[in-house]
Amino acid sequence: MGERLKLIIWICVSLLAFLDFGEASKIGICYGRNADNLPSPNKVSELIQHLNIKFVRIYDANIDVLKAFANTGIELMIGVPNADLLAFAQFQSNVDTWLRNSILPYYPTTKITSISVGLEVTEAPDNATGLLLPAMRNIHTALKKSGLDKKIKISSSHSLAILSRSFPPSSASFSKKHLAFLKPMLEFLVENESPFMIDLYPYYAYRDSAEKVQLEYALFESSSQVVDPATGLLYSNMFDAQLDAIYFALTAMNFKTVKVMVTESGWPSKGSPKETAATPDNALAYNTNLIRHVIGDPGTPAKPGEEIDVYLFSLFNENRKPGIESERNWGMFYANGTSVYALDFTGESAAPVSPSNSSTGTTSPGPSSSPGNNGNSTVIIGGGGGGGARKWCIASSQLQRRNCRVHWTGLAVPEC
Ligand SMILES: *[C@@H]1O[C@H](CO)[C@@H](O)[C@H](O)[C@H]1NC(C)=O
Ligand SMILES: *[C@@H]1O[C@H](CO)[C@@H](O)[C@H](O)[C@H]1NC(C)=O
Ligand SMILES: *[C@@H]1O[C@H](CO)[C@@H](O)[C@H](O)[C@H]1NC(C)=O
Ligand SMILES: *[C@@H]1O[C@H](CO)[C@@H](O)[C@H](O)[C@H]1NC(C)=O
Repeated sequence: MGERLKLIIWICVSLLAFLDFGEASKIGICYGRNADNLPSPNKVSELIQHLNIKFVRIYDANIDVLKAFANTGIELMIGVPNADLLAFAQFQSNVDTWLRNSILPYYPTTKITSISVGLEVTEAPDNATGLLLPAMRNIHTALKKSGLDKKIKISSSHSLAILSRSFPPSSASFSKKHLAFLKPMLEFLVENESPFMIDLYPYYAYRDSAEKVQLEYALFESSSQVVDPATGLLYSNMFDAQLDAIYFALTAMNFKTVKVMVTESGWPSKGSPKETAATPDNALAYNTNLIRHVIGDPGTPAKPGEEIDVYLFSLFNENRKPGIESERNWGMFYANGTSVYALDFTGESAAPVSPSNSSTGTTSPGPSSSPGNNGNSTVIIGGGGGGGARKWCIASSQLQRRNCRVHWTGLAVPEC
């Protein structure tokens, strides 16, 4: 190839790299409203502006909420609840009416930039997955008629349970039973340059297998790393391992280029008596560390430098949410507007943040079993004790497999 062509290509590549620098990971917040005691949407909008948060996710298209964010410059992700999927999937006219009455009057004064269709449909009791793509297509058609299809992205947020396997990350794959709706949905996302949306909760992985997962690993405070034996990639926190599991699962389906957006992640400040890690200190640690982790654009081990957009869950405690105690305590704020803990959304505060109960995670031996050591070290787990001296343990791949039955766990038991 000619020198001149080489030079032109080099300039283009450099320019692209330069432009890429303009992109940065975005931190948004989820504004769930399953409560009967929250401040008015106008007050909430003031609070969010005061916190200098520029990205907000809501779960419907409530008119008072849309109005409250008018002329604020805040980018809004709105939602289509699962209960509306049937109507949206069945008739184009239903979607046209919704767009005309609920969206267009408030756009673009309210800066709606994406629509998340359905909520973790794979976890929904009804057969919602089959309705998802038809609903998304009808929304796309309606937006197109209004010339908004390039301005408002359409996607759908999913639970990590959409994977049948998530550890090691490189072996992750989507659950077979979901492939029928997933493949065409991913094609739709690619066609429309929309991101794949995933809700990530290291909290649940820790809570459901506290004997195997170190609290520090879940809270971004591990002093050691977990190795993915197939790739040699090192993981120092579970968030990255979960996110890479999604990247690898997408790659395995040949959807390498689709962007991934984390549409929920957080930590509860209070839980049932058994949920000992649900404390304000741990919630503060997780959210602070998550913000610091993504704002520098370090990416993940599998995708270094990748921009990661994250929506923190959640703005308020929601007293109407059913289920165990923690469900109602994911908020950074009480309903009365007092903060549950002092989170710095800029990630710039210098104060060290550490878990309130590190005794849980340091030396958990897990179930005593005799590992079949095949001689290859696959998982390295630091003892991480407070004493300063770092102790390293090795677990065999066989042991690791046995302990990673619980999906999205991402840690094997140290063999010390
Ligand atoms: C769920 O929807 C899919 C796609 O429409 C369909 O193939 C499947 O039979 C449905 N399952 C049930 C239990 O209705
Ligand atoms: C707000 O609510 C929390 C939790 O109920 C309570 O502890 C706090 O004192 C309240 N703050 C104000 C200013 O009322
Ligand atoms: C910390 O962990 C220990 C042992 O797991 C437990 O006994 C104690 O209650 C925990 N403390 C808090 C504040 O959660
Ligand atoms: C250890 O790993 C190496 C390289 O992956 C492989 O060639 C070797 O067979 C493994 N040894 C055992 C005992 O599994």
